[in-house]
Amino acid sequence: MATVEFRKLAKNYGAVPIVHGIDLQVADGEFVVLVGPSGCGKSTCLRMLAGLEDISGGEILIDGRVVNEVDARDRDIAMVFQDYALYPHMSVFENIAFSLRYRGVPAAEIGERVREAARVLDLGALLDRKPKQLSGGQRQRVAMGRAIVRKPKVFLFDEPLSNLDAKLRGQMRLEIKRLHRSFGITTIYVTHDQVEAMTLADRVVVMRGGHIEQVGSPDDVYHRPRTQFVAGFIGAPTMNLLNGTCRGGQLVLGDGPVSVPLAPGQAGDHAAVVLGIRPEDVTVAQGETPAGMADVSGTVDVVEALGPDTLVFASISGQSMVARVRPEVRPLPGSAIGLRLDLQRSHLFAAPSGVALRS
Ligand SMILES: Nc1ncnc2c1ncn2[C@@H]1O[C@H](COP(=O)(O)OP(=O)(O)OP(=O)(O)O)[C@@H](O)[C@H]1O
Ligand SMILES: [Mg+2]
Repeated sequence: MATVEFRKLAKNYGAVPIVHGIDLQVADGEFVVLVGPSGCGKSTCLRMLAGLEDISGGEILIDGRVVNEVDARDRDIAMVFQDYALYPHMSVFENIAFSLRYRGVPAAEIGERVREAARVLDLGALLDRKPKQLSGGQRQRVAMGRAIVRKPKVFLFDEPLSNLDAKLRGQMRLEIKRLHRSFGITTIYVTHDQVEAMTLADRVVVMRGGHIEQVGSPDDVYHRPRTQFVAGFIGAPTMNLLNGTCRGGQLVLGDGPVSVPLAPGQAGDHAAVVLGIRPEDVTVAQGETPAGMADVSGTVDVVEALGPDTLVFASISGQSMVARVRPEVRPLPGSAIGLRLDLQRSHLFAAPSGVALRS
């Protein structure tokens, strides 16, 4: 087990800066999830930590010791890659056993550890197969097996479940959580999957263009985003972000005529702001508007019936927004609709900086 720390960690490829001096402290046994748009530097950070990529600036510490110059194989880190490569000529058993053989672990213990990993990953029946005889999802699980048999100081996972079908993905997510609970190995995990990020993480790190935008618990980044970027990145469907201007205590959306009340002192008159509200905090308006709510009217664009709930996409003052409503609600596309916004659960961001004014 180990702590991990980035101090002003930077990476350039040639003259192009990719990671811009980030600071991050990961506690012993913590599960940290990195999220961010494609190309923001998530894999690059993992590869630098694993020692597979030189760093251009700053320091990486494992257990308080600077490892900038430490060889990858001496860092005791196991990594499951985005593009995991298995040894094609070896069986599943030998692929999983490889790193243990390399380290001279006794044969009996290797057999035990491989079979334990195979049980967890449901690979028991496939141990004699070669990688080319496996599906993509099965290969991905073998790659996981290679990492978990090692019982390393630190686990790095780079989208390890991206090739699995939805059901297996759900099962593996639970398995990873269980593994982490039993072994408590410090883990840094990259994913594009919102559910994985929210359910696995002790803390979520939201990255953007080689910077860290926010670090916090899943509840923090979901309910208390510090910027419009985080608000729009976390959550599916994404938070509604409606442009408006403050006028006399009202937020006028788009070019009007729809407006919602603002709390006193929230933003100065004529300030450009963005109102953020999650789809689940929008309902179809009925009866009188209760206190703390605001009704806006618009036109239904698209209705998606998902089973447990319905998504209603509507346009309000020329801006699109989505409401997550009860499954039996099925308004007709093209019809007029009143949507009720729960202002107490809304967010306000300054425009164009995107900094939260209050949550
Ligand atoms: N060897 C390389 N040479 C030059 N540029 C590179 C190299 N490897 C990565 N990059 C660039 O660095 C940036 C960050 O890449 P990285 O793989 O870390 O992104 P990512 O956040 O993991 O994205 P994704 O979600 O798509 O996997 C990208 O713009 C990428 O094109
Ligand atoms: Mg990547």
